[in-house]
Amino acid sequence: MSAPPKTVLTASPEEEAEIRQAVRTADPEGLGPNRVIAGPEHVEALLELLSDPEVSEAIYDLPRPLTLENVGAWVADFAAKRARGEGLLVVTPDFGKGILSYSQITVWPERASAEMAGAMRADIQGGGGGGEGAVRSFSWIFDALKVRLIGLTAAPDNIRSVKLIDRAGFVRMGERESRRADGSTRRSLYWEMTRDGWAQLQAGMAGKA
Ligand SMILES: CC(C)(COP(=O)(O)OP(=O)(O)OC[C@H]1O[C@@H](n2cnc3c(N)ncnc32)[C@H](O)[C@@H]1OP(=O)(O)O)[C@@H](O)C(=O)NCCC(=O)NCCS
Repeated sequence: MSAPPKTVLTASPEEEAEIRQAVRTADPEGLGPNRVIAGPEHVEALLELLSDPEVSEAIYDLPRPLTLENVGAWVADFAAKRARGEGLLVVTPDFGKGILSYSQITVWPERASAEMAGAMRADIQGGGGGGEGAVRSFSWIFDALKVRLIGLTAAPDNIRSVKLIDRAGFVRMGERESRRADGSTRRSLYWEMTRDGWAQLQAGMAGKA
């Protein structure tokens, strides 16, 4: 189940309200072209995407077992989270041929914090698209959703994710035990990034370009 960052920030009531409103009204195209909010019409294709272990095995925060009913409930739960300003489930439809990728953003407005998870279809993994997309996503989460902290987890043997997160500049903060929807647990590496830290990194990169 989604777990908020280890670092505990406290948002003022005004900041919390601003974040909730930002999440409710965010345009998912900020994450990349053709991104849309997941709806009931995507449930079947999402199940097909997630049924590939190369897509879903490494991700702790997914409905388990992966059935049409559980994926439908997950999509509905995220619609309710979005209405409360507490999360977004975004998909990239592949022009009527299934779904290319999904991103799950969980937001804790009272803590001005967010967590992100996601995956791409196996045939497009390893081509650099995930790294690029992740950097754009982190910028968007800080700018558009107005949070001040992002926490991330990855399985220690998920080499692509670990490299991607380290390369993005996130700060390693030890490990944590992640709990799956079926109650089983997984040891995860854990990272954080603050909005100010991210802005400094991006300014440094722009200076080098
Ligand atoms: C994680 C994921 C989004 C990354 O996207 P991607 O496009 O596949 O990743 P990239 O091609 O950008 O590669 C990321 C890093 O892994 C490296 N990498 C890619 N394939 C590799 C391989 N077979 N062996 C070792 N390193 C590899 C890349 O060089 C890159 O490292 P760098 O930034 O230091 O150059 C994607 O692989 C995916 O959907 N995986 C399954 C689900 C998942 O694990 N989600 C994340 C859970 S935290």
